[in-house]
Amino acid sequence: MSSTTRDPDRFAALTAEVGICFGGDYNPEQWPRATWREDVELMRRAGVNLVTVGVFSWAMIEPTPGAREFAWLDEVLGLLHGAGIAVDLATPTASPPPWLGVRHPETLPTDRDGVRLVPGSRNQFTPASRVYREHALAITRDLAVRYARHPAVRMWHVGNEYGQLDYGDEAAGEFRRWLRERYGTIDALNEAWGTSFWSQRYADFDEILPPRRMPYIVNPSQAVDFRRYSSDQLRDCYRQLRDAIREAGATAPITTNFMGFFPHADYRTWAGDVDVIADDQYPDPASPTSPADIALVQDLMRSLGDGRPWLLMEQSVSATSWRGHNLPKSPARARADSLQAVARGADGICFFQWRQSRAGAERFHSAMVPHAGSDTEVFRGVVRQGADLARLRPVVGARVQAQAAVVFDWPSWWAADEPALPTDRLDTVAEVTRWYRALWRRGIAADIVAGGTDVTDYPLVLVPHAYLIEPDAAAALAAASEAGAQVVIGPFSGVADANGHIRTGRSPVLLRELIGASGEEWCALPDVDLDMPGVAGATASTLGERLRSDGAEVRARHASGPLSGLPAITRQGHGPGAAWYLGAVVDDGVLDAVIGEAAAGVAGALPGVSVLPDGVEAVRRGDALFLLNHGGQTVQVPVPPGLLDLLTGEVTNSVAAIGPDDVRVLIERQDR
Ligand code: GAL
Repeated sequence: MSSTTRDPDRFAALTAEVGICFGGDYNPEQWPRATWREDVELMRRAGVNLVTVGVFSWAMIEPTPGAREFAWLDEVLGLLHGAGIAVDLATPTASPPPWLGVRHPETLPTDRDGVRLVPGSRNQFTPASRVYREHALAITRDLAVRYARHPAVRMWHVGNEYGQLDYGDEAAGEFRRWLRERYGTIDALNEAWGTSFWSQRYADFDEILPPRRMPYIVNPSQAVDFRRYSSDQLRDCYRQLRDAIREAGATAPITTNFMGFFPHADYRTWAGDVDVIADDQYPDPASPTSPADIALVQDLMRSLGDGRPWLLMEQSVSATSWRGHNLPKSPARARADSLQAVARGADGICFFQWRQSRAGAERFHSAMVPHAGSDTEVFRGVVRQGADLARLRPVVGARVQAQAAVVFDWPSWWAADEPALPTDRLDTVAEVTRWYRALWRRGIAADIVAGGTDVTDYPLVLVPHAYLIEPDAAAALAAASEAGAQVVIGPFSGVADANGHIRTGRSPVLLRELIGASGEEWCALPDVDLDMPGVAGATASTLGERLRSDGAEVRARHASGPLSGLPAITRQGHGPGAAWYLGAVVDDGVLDAVIGEAAAGVAGALPGVSVLPDGVEAVRRGDALFLLNHGGQTVQVPVPPGLLDLLTGEVTNSVAAIGPDDVRVLIERQDR
C-alpha cells in the first residue's frame, strides 16, 4: 500500500483554532460512567482542549474475536465533544487482548534467547506477524470508518511508542526479505557483512537468522542491519494503519508517539510519515542536568519536523513509577517543564495521564487528577498550566532559530554501540548530550541533523561522535568550514563506513585533510592529564588516539598516560572558519572551553550574554524570548527593557528577577 506523505498543515490548522493543545491520555475504560462526567467537568476547569482516547482499549472494543463494542466510545466522544474537548483517537493496537496471543501464539514476540513473551502486561505483539497485522488492521479500519468524520476527532494516534524487537521465526523470514531487498544478491550481502571473517559466508538468504543468542560476539554488520530492519518493520506497521485511517476519509493529522533518542527506531526515517512529530519525555527530576538534556531531545524533535511545531504527547505531572526511585515534580517544576517544551517549539503539551489509575502496573504514576482528587496541589498546578498556555497563543506556529548544527545519526549510534571496540565506555548519545550542554549554557539552540546535511548556513557545527561517516557527510563538514563555520569534531569519528567496515589509512580517513591532523591507533585511556593553556586541571579519559599534527595548531597535549606528549586537541583554520578535532574524550570543563571558543562569534538567545547564569535557559522562539530558571535560587537576568511578559502582563525594566522554576516569556509590546 502506498504511503501518504506528511502534511504539517493538518496540525497547524488545529492549533490555529484551539491554540496550544493541552491535555493528556484519557483512559475512561478504567472508570465508571459517573467519573466520566466529573472528568469532563475538571477538564474544562483546567482548560484541557485535547485528550488521547483509546490507546489501551482493544480488549474493551473486541472482547471476543470479531466483536465490536463501540457504544461506550460513542458515549465518551460525545461527552468530550459536548464540552468542546478535541480527541486524539488512538488505534488500540499497542496492546492486543489476551485471546489473540492465546489463540495465535505466533503473534507474540520472541526475545533474543528464544523466549516467547506472554500476555499480562502490554505490547505483546510482533510487528512481523501476519496474523497480528490482520487483526490490527481490521479493528483500525472499523474504528476509522466509524469515527473518521466524528466532529470530536481532531487527531489520530497510531499504536503507542512503537519499539519492539522480535527474533522469532516470522521475524526471521521478514528479515531475510528485507535483506534481499537491500542487497539483491547473497554475494553483496557477504561483502557488506564481511563474512569471510570466522567462516560466516552464506550460500543463500535462507540460511540467515536474526542475531539471536550466539556462542560468541555477533557479526556487527549483521547486528546493525537487524536494527535497521526492526525500525523499518515497525514503521511499516504504523504506515499500514495510518493508510487505513486515511482511506476511511479522515482528514485530521495522524501521528504516533516517539521516545526521544530511542534505540530501536531511527526516527529520521519515520519523520516523513507523521503529520506532526509527537514525543514522550520523562526527564528525571533527580538529575541536575535534566533541563539541558531534555532541551536536546526537544531540539531533536523540532529538527525531525524540519523546524515546525511539534507535540509533547506525554510527560509526567509529578512522579513516574517505572524508575527505581521516583522523585516527584513540584507543580512549579511541572509548569517549567511544559513551558520549556513550548520555548523549544512545541505547540501541544500533554501528559500521561489524565486520571491516576487505581489498579494496574501504573497505580503510582502521577496524573493530572491524582488519587486524592482535585483538591490537590497537583491539580491546582494543572489548572495554572492551562491558563498559562492559553496566554501563549501569540507563539503558536512560531519557529525557533537555531544557530548551531549537531550531527547525529541512528545507524552510527548503533554501530558504535556494538561490543568489541577499544572501549565500551563511549556512548554516542551520552556524548551528544554532554556536548550539547555547552550550547545550552550559552542560550544557543541547535538543529540536530543527519550527516550529509548542508550545514553551510550555521556558524557552528558540532560532531560529537560520528563513528560512521560517509563521503557526503565529510564533504558537508568541509563545505561548512570553508563557508566560515567553526566545525568541532569529536573522538572516534569517521572510523567506519555504512557497513561498519573500518576505513583503512591514517584516521579519520575522510576528515584528516579538513582537521589537518591524523592518527594511527585508537587507545582506551585511563584518566590522564592534559596540558592545555588557559584550562587548569584539564583531563581526558575513556578513549584517545595516537595523533600527529599535519599542519593544524595543537591546542592541548596529553601530559600523562600512554599518549603522553602527543596532541589531544587540534585546530585547523580555513579562512574565517576552522575545523577542531578532539582526539580524546575530554572532561566537561575542557569541552566547555573548546565549544565556548568555537561559539565566540555566535549570538545566543539573550543579547549581550555569552554564558547564562547557572541553571538559566534562554530560547528565542519567533519574537518571544523565553527565560527559564531551573536553578534553586532567584537569579537576576539582564533583559532588554520595555518587553511584555506574556505570562504576567508585566513590562520589563532592564533586569528580570526570576525565582526558582519560574519562567518569563517576553515579547515586544505590540497590538497583540
Ligand atoms: C509511556 C507510555 C504510557 C505510560 C507512560 C508512563 O511509555 O506510552 O502508556 O506507560 O509511559 O510513564
